[in-house]
Amino acid sequence: MKIYITEVGPRDGLQNYPKIIDTKKKVEFINLLSESNVDEIEVSSFVSPKLVPQLSDAEEVFKNIKRNKKIIYSALVPNEKGLERALSVNVDKISVFTSASETFNLKNINMSIEESLNKFKNIIKIAKESSKLTRAYISTAFWCPYEGKIDSMKVRDISLKLLNMGVDEISLGDTIGKASPDDVRELLELILKDIKRDNIVMHFHVTYGMASANVYIAYREFSIYKFDSSVGGIGGCPFAPNARGNIATEDLVYMLKRLGANVMVDIEKVIQAYSILEIESYSYISKLKL
Ligand code: COA
Ligand code: ZN
Repeated sequence: MKIYITEVGPRDGLQNYPKIIDTKKKVEFINLLSESNVDEIEVSSFVSPKLVPQLSDAEEVFKNIKRNKKIIYSALVPNEKGLERALSVNVDKISVFTSASETFNLKNINMSIEESLNKFKNIIKIAKESSKLTRAYISTAFWCPYEGKIDSMKVRDISLKLLNMGVDEISLGDTIGKASPDDVRELLELILKDIKRDNIVMHFHVTYGMASANVYIAYREFSIYKFDSSVGGIGGCPFAPNARGNIATEDLVYMLKRLGANVMVDIEKVIQAYSILEIESYSYISKLKL
């Protein structure tokens, strides 16, 4: 099975970065990423510009990037207004997002989990009528900064509700990077009883240094093949204090290649794209000759 990588750097990576990066630079970054053989690029978010000012240029970015036909260009959409904005610039894939924690969801999108699911029904319906691909994130799928450990049954139930609405895939987000390999095993053992692995994406952050171990478990023990990552490991969530970035794309790809996985991403191209941002990275691979 070919590995499917969603590069979330332009969205998850930049959303919390305090210095506004100009639109031209974002476009250049995404155009370079488009040469790296990633499968999907999460370009931006159509959210409140007051809450996430860094991504308030989502339309401009979409209008100006050069699209590679082999790549899916996706974006986050929290509500109908976001959907309208996303459709106006012909986003390929609409990604809604909720959480497995009530407290986090309220802080993040000002809705209870149930309210958000009700809102998504119509968004997914319209997205599908517009021939768009769809994804749903479940943030804090393992640990919440406010509620602690999340019950895996809750994640399973929300996932099933989203899939029943017609969402194509669920991205299970370890928003604060606290999932251990045993947590990942427990959730996947439960969830894969009812859900096909083709519908599951893993989204790990590096805060506690366990992201690579978690990918290893998901890939080796459960044959999960869809992963999110951000080049340079940049990122964090404005509503999850102290959370660090995603697993770095270069680290993820390097490990999967060493495990013999069928992964086509060109690490050097990814790093080249990242380097134009001039943001410091924890990832060391970019400093090595491969
Ligand atoms: N795009 C742009 N503006 C939007 C919007 C969207 N998708 N949705 C709402 N707004 C605007 C409204 O027009 C309104 O503007 P006004 O104050 O000038 O009248 C304002 O935002 C409040 O609208 P409301 O519908 O009451 O939203 P809210 O305050 O309950 O916020 C969300 C809800 C979902 C819009 C907001 O919480 C949000 O954008 N969250 C995203 C957080 C995020 O990106 N987190 C990181 C990813 S995990
Ligand atoms: Zn994330």
